[in-house]
Amino acid sequence: VTVAVEPPYDVVVGAGALGELSALVGDRRQVVVVSQRAVFDACRDKLVGFLGGSEARGGTHGVVFMGDGEQAKSFAAVELLCREFAREGLLRGDAIVALGGGVVGDTAGFAAAVYHRGVAVVQAPTTLLAMVDAAVGGKTAVNLPEGKNLVGSFHQPAAVVADTTTLDSLPEAEFRCGLGEVAKYALLPQGAEVAAILDTCRTAILARDAAALEQLVAACVAVKAEIVAADPQERTGARAALNYGHTLAHALETTSGHSLAHGEAVAIGLVFAAQLAHSLERVGADVVERTQAVIDGLGLPTTVPDDVTADSLLEVMRRDKKAKGGLTFVLPGPHGVESVDDPPIAAIDTALRAVGVAG
Ligand SMILES: NC(=O)c1ccc[n+]([C@@H]2O[C@H](COP(=O)([O-])OP(=O)(O)OC[C@H]3O[C@@H](n4cnc5c(N)ncnc54)[C@H](O)[C@@H]3O)[C@@H](O)[C@H]2O)c1
Repeated sequence: VTVAVEPPYDVVVGAGALGELSALVGDRRQVVVVSQRAVFDACRDKLVGFLGGSEARGGTHGVVFMGDGEQAKSFAAVELLCREFAREGLLRGDAIVALGGGVVGDTAGFAAAVYHRGVAVVQAPTTLLAMVDAAVGGKTAVNLPEGKNLVGSFHQPAAVVADTTTLDSLPEAEFRCGLGEVAKYALLPQGAEVAAILDTCRTAILARDAAALEQLVAACVAVKAEIVAADPQERTGARAALNYGHTLAHALETTSGHSLAHGEAVAIGLVFAAQLAHSLERVGADVVERTQAVIDGLGLPTTVPDDVTADSLLEVMRRDKKAKGGLTFVLPGPHGVESVDDPPIAAIDTALRAVGVAG
């Protein structure tokens, strides 16, 4: 899949795609791989050609490890990575490979954006979420104690390699996280192909069949590529569609103390958004039914845990950084999926009740 930004880049998707890494870094003298120890070990045998190949070309490769989890997506990690790059003698024309999930991709991507004022990064995502979402589109960021993704930049990768065989070792909970984003793409107007693949290959996808995952990831990436190309720097509003289901999802993650996984929260957020759009007479009841069917089919939840209250969700949503003071939702409607400001509170209440929020 080609992402048509300036300059354009390719996303290579498939079983064994990491074998393309040497060709993608081209004749760069030096490459540093940023990863996490466990991820690198799980992928090591798929990198043999690449690691050996760089020595054969007279170049060098270093491997730098970073920590795991959101707390590892920090300024401190960026400093450590940049110092490692300097010690490795990485120059402006060299490249970084980010091998891992979104935590590695976002942190290494941001380090690549600022080291020497910008060096090339090849994103090599190893989680379903990173393959269909985080690795494509050029958003990089780290967290501050004051909030998630508060410091970052747009730094489009030189290429993306999504090797679907790396997903074999991914824990089930992480796989489900990615399925939440897959559901989002299937329900976007541009996502007909994703929906068709889910209809015909759902069992194979849930069993992580490599051929089915290859089709699915490529179709999701094609949707993301189309939206990113229309709004590379998130300026026109087109990119808002990528946040479909996410306003409530972020609030659910916060109020549940992250006991709900991101993918589960997105799944519930999608049902809520469809229901809210229906309450506002933007879409028919068929959209709500279809949303529930897609999410049920992926084995994801459509209702919230018992202890979540409307007041706590509304308070967190009002603080959402995408909100402009009031409450902003990304909703389907006659003109596609778009931002809608301050819908009537009665409609929000109805939609919250539809996903099981009491009172
Ligand atoms: N830049 C963007 O556009 C964008 C979009 C969506 C999400 N994100 C960011 O992505 C992050 C979440 O990414 P994630 O869901 O990939 O989480 P993650 O990077 O934390 O990975 C999840 C876990 O799986 C492990 N793992 C990764 N690949 C593995 C493999 N192949 N086998 C076994 N274990 C493996 C990781 O070590 C980690 O413990 C968040 O920080 C989020 O903000 C960014």
